[in-house]
Amino acid sequence: MGRLSKRDLLTCQDLSHRDIWLIFETAKNLKNSYYRGERPKLLKGKNLAMIFEEPSTRTRVSFEVAINQLGGNALYLRPGEIHLGTRETVGDTAKTLSRYVDAIMARLFKHETLVELAENATVPVINGLTDWLHPVQALSDVYTMWEHFEDLKKIKISFFGDATNVANSLLILTSKLGLNFTFCGPKKYWPKERTMELVEKNVKETGVAPTFTESIDEAIREANVVYTDLWWWVGQEQEAEERIKAFTSYQVNSELMRKAAKNAVFMHCLPASRGMEVTNEVIDGPQSIVWDQAENRLHVEKAILVLLMT
Ligand code: CP
Repeated sequence: MGRLSKRDLLTCQDLSHRDIWLIFETAKNLKNSYYRGERPKLLKGKNLAMIFEEPSTRTRVSFEVAINQLGGNALYLRPGEIHLGTRETVGDTAKTLSRYVDAIMARLFKHETLVELAENATVPVINGLTDWLHPVQALSDVYTMWEHFEDLKKIKISFFGDATNVANSLLILTSKLGLNFTFCGPKKYWPKERTMELVEKNVKETGVAPTFTESIDEAIREANVVYTDLWWWVGQEQEAEERIKAFTSYQVNSELMRKAAKNAVFMHCLPASRGMEVTNEVIDGPQSIVWDQAENRLHVEKAILVLLMT
């Protein structure tokens, strides 16, 4: 089956070009075999600890179903159920869990906590979302684009809105792969330095730089993928009014979709705030591939688990 070059998956920057394609090819094989009715027990007897400091529908359910389908077991660990960072250090939790389980997947508020967890664990640690990044989402998204368009080099991917953890991960992943990516939103909300440092490093290698613009017309022109995400996340509720004002003109609606390429698709990592960043007619419309995108979390995560745990 092969292995990834690093033990942990904390950022897409941890992955080589070969690793990314190994994940995509493995996910494709596992998805095809699933639809043929096969259930290979590649992780029989293996255990995955899943730590969640924040709520989740897709990440929680897709990882748990992924390891179950592969013959393994998941433990769902919420705050109040374990001592992480409260009655014991993050490092002590990491060392203890490493004696029981074969991998840890964690959704944590602070990216630094995830790094500390990984530094102290002796088993693979997978990022299930932090305040900075959401690499498994970006991998599932680009896999979904590959599935839909086949040749990733021929498409223009345009992201509208805030530099969320998903947008940051998409920027890192697409810059690694040398894809045509446009980030469009108010300048105040463009990606911060720590994301840009990685993007610039990747651009030096691929020669393909993403575009950053406030111009909706520039971003939507010939876009094949129109992507958006929430305008605020847990902990940013007090900024809601300011953010609505800043992002309203960047809403993905039918008028915007009409200006994109004829074969354009709409993508969203979900959960969506309908009527805010996207209208019902777009997310429920014929160009929307958000449910394929959500399903592919399962297949891509199965690939990641197999490549890190076997
Ligand atoms: N996209 C995503 O990670 O969804 P959840 O917050 O439901 O896990």
